[in-house]
Amino acid sequence: MPVSRPQPRPGVLEISPYVPGKSAAPGAVKVFKLSSNETPLGPSPKAIAAYHAVAEHLQEYPEGSAADLRDAIGRAFGLDPDRIVCGAGSDDILNLLARAYLADGDEAIHTTHGFLVYPIATLGTGAKPVVATETNFTADVDAILKAVTPRTKMVFLANPNNPTGTYLPFDEVKRLHKGLPSHVLFVLDAAYAEYVRRNDYEAGIELVATSDNVVMTRTFSKIHGLAALRLGWMYGPAHVVDAINRIRGPFNVNTAVMRAGIAAIGDTAHQERAREHNARWLAWLLAEIPKLGLKVTPSVANFVLIHFPETKGRTAKDADAFLTERGLILRYVAAYKLPNALRLTVGSEEANKLVVSALAEFMGKPA
Ligand SMILES: Cc1ncc(COP(=O)(O)O)c(C=O)c1O
Repeated sequence: MPVSRPQPRPGVLEISPYVPGKSAAPGAVKVFKLSSNETPLGPSPKAIAAYHAVAEHLQEYPEGSAADLRDAIGRAFGLDPDRIVCGAGSDDILNLLARAYLADGDEAIHTTHGFLVYPIATLGTGAKPVVATETNFTADVDAILKAVTPRTKMVFLANPNNPTGTYLPFDEVKRLHKGLPSHVLFVLDAAYAEYVRRNDYEAGIELVATSDNVVMTRTFSKIHGLAALRLGWMYGPAHVVDAINRIRGPFNVNTAVMRAGIAAIGDTAHQERAREHNARWLAWLLAEIPKLGLKVTPSVANFVLIHFPETKGRTAKDADAFLTERGLILRYVAAYKLPNALRLTVGSEEANKLVVSALAEFMGKPA
């Protein structure tokens, strides 16, 4: 006889739980965590000071609408603060969007190597994730448009994408938007936008400003170095902002996070240092790693995807073990349908050089 007990809604138990990048390398003297696309420069010292200052007032509830933070973001990007919603990381925002706009039987499209939170958020609502194939590890507008059915309610696009580091130029993003029915919500996830140095790239601000069905999500976890605090935001049409404000937690961004976020977004010199550091070492890694006989997908973000040979002893799994023993932790990305690749976050000069010399040793050793 079946046991009667509470059942989660259909889809929930189909979710493969998100596994974060590992952070331990047992036995290694010094550990470099290059598995979660964190910044090697850390946060702005002003953000750290602002965070500490809140310790004197922990008995007070946060200001629930994050008004000061939305004002600061609005000033930084020239946006109307009333069209911004903040959340506990952009993960929170992505889940809120799914909860508000997806229901049983709906479909949400993401690309083959798209960010894993998209299918997780989709399945959690009872809707079905639909995968659109990529071309050369890059989102393919025609494939996404072909995947649209009468049930499609949402399209998630990370631009640039994690874990591939590839991007779609603005013309292609506009072509995709133009091909979508107007009732489909187009979610442009621009978590790595600050790192992109291409004049054909646009994070989403212009498209949101001129459409009724586009939302752009951003994070403080990457260039601002505040991943531990969990802070993300979205910019969207007033009607989407209204829907999300109805379902978000009333205090989903805490006071310390808000204060740190305001200080971080105001420290443009710190952001510029992070951008400069990344541009220099991203170019270096993209040049050096292929010299070792390894393929690297061209990246515009703060990480690179390294492809390994199929040969026994030289696979991504072998490389992962070899590098971890030396305290170099990269991301094994089999869950992203990339079973023979590792993702490397652009690290400090010391970390980048250590990874390249360890990879040279790995490729040179007898297989
Ligand atoms: C494409 C993409 N979107 C969103 C996120 C989530 O960032 P957050 O820390 O703001 O939840 C990440 C983090 O890895 C990401 O790679």
